[in-house]
Amino acid sequence: MASAESTLTLELTSRQASDFELLANGGFAPLDGFMGRADWESVCEQMTLSSLPGAEIWPIPITLATDFEAVEGDVVKLVAANGKSLGSLTVSEVFERDVDREAETVYRTTDDDHPGVAAIRAEGSRCLAGKIEVEALPDHEEAFQRRYQTTEESKRAFAERGWKRIVAFQTRNPIHRAHEYLTKAALEICDGLYIHPLIGETKQGDIPADVRMRCYEVLMDNYYHPEHVMLGVNPGKMHYAGPREAVLHAIIRRNYGCTHFIVGRDHAGVGDYYGTYDAQRIFDDIDTQTLGITPLFFEHTFWCEECEGMGSAKTCPHPQESHLFLSGTKVREMLGRGETPPPEFTREEVADILIESMRKESASNG
Ligand code: ADX
Repeated sequence: MASAESTLTLELTSRQASDFELLANGGFAPLDGFMGRADWESVCEQMTLSSLPGAEIWPIPITLATDFEAVEGDVVKLVAANGKSLGSLTVSEVFERDVDREAETVYRTTDDDHPGVAAIRAEGSRCLAGKIEVEALPDHEEAFQRRYQTTEESKRAFAERGWKRIVAFQTRNPIHRAHEYLTKAALEICDGLYIHPLIGETKQGDIPADVRMRCYEVLMDNYYHPEHVMLGVNPGKMHYAGPREAVLHAIIRRNYGCTHFIVGRDHAGVGDYYGTYDAQRIFDDIDTQTLGITPLFFEHTFWCEECEGMGSAKTCPHPQESHLFLSGTKVREMLGRGETPPPEFTREEVADILIESMRKESASNG
């Protein structure tokens, strides 16, 4: 039996370190550790936490799935991949989750091609639950670290600026014109905009966070108002759980001190697993007053030649032929050939960064 002086040490994967970090920096409040069976089950089945009074909304299980040998009562030291000591977990329970049930209830599919489902399958069913003690936060490269804020720091920064209505923007992509339009439209009815890109693990094919960071910085320098826009980073990982993840993304931003949250088309979606507006509809059954953050819904937006501006089916009366639509694949192909997509789709400064990064990537791939 291990004691409190245990030398049990678990090196967290990058996905596990993301969860640890959001538990540690306040992003996952009110959680104070990795979930046990009762919470896992109520989160999957009812989207609520069972361990706290009030059946608080929680959409995705935060579990530590691992084969690591530990039993109830053990204190496990948690370290990052670079060896940095992060803290410890006091194991209160070891349990088996039903991965298919989690896939079905949370992801709405058990298809292995779904990247979120594939990830939980790869992690396996055995979970260690318990409270964490925090010693330090994981390290990040300078480009992220300089924008890094804990939830206490972002709340303080908002207060210092006198912002009362703060809209958060989640993204895992470079900010293209449609994204820019949503953020600016939302900012028109708020005091501040918190651009909060996700920098944890994303799927193969998504643009790496360091490249995206350069795109965000160039937009901050040239197209966003410094007194009304702040750029932070969310150390979370992507689940690609569409509607359920939209709720998680909103909760995290509530914890960072935001009052409003942008939910556009197919938020946190992948492939054809979710309907275009499913991630908005899920909020119909949620009391957003109690949730503590108000979602702002946006329809699919595009550039319209006739309007000579961005719009959506709500604001643009022109036929589809007037709308600029480029699929992600088409844009990647253009960038890969060194071609700049039209400025109505993406800012030239952003396209330049993406082209350069693709050039480097193909050079390093030989
Ligand atoms: S996500 O996985 O973080 O949702 P992405 O970075 O593409 O992916 O989207 C960020 C936010 O912008 C999401 O709320 C998404 O719904 C919204 N969004 C992206 N593109 C559009 C668009 N053309 N029209 C409306 N909303 C959009």
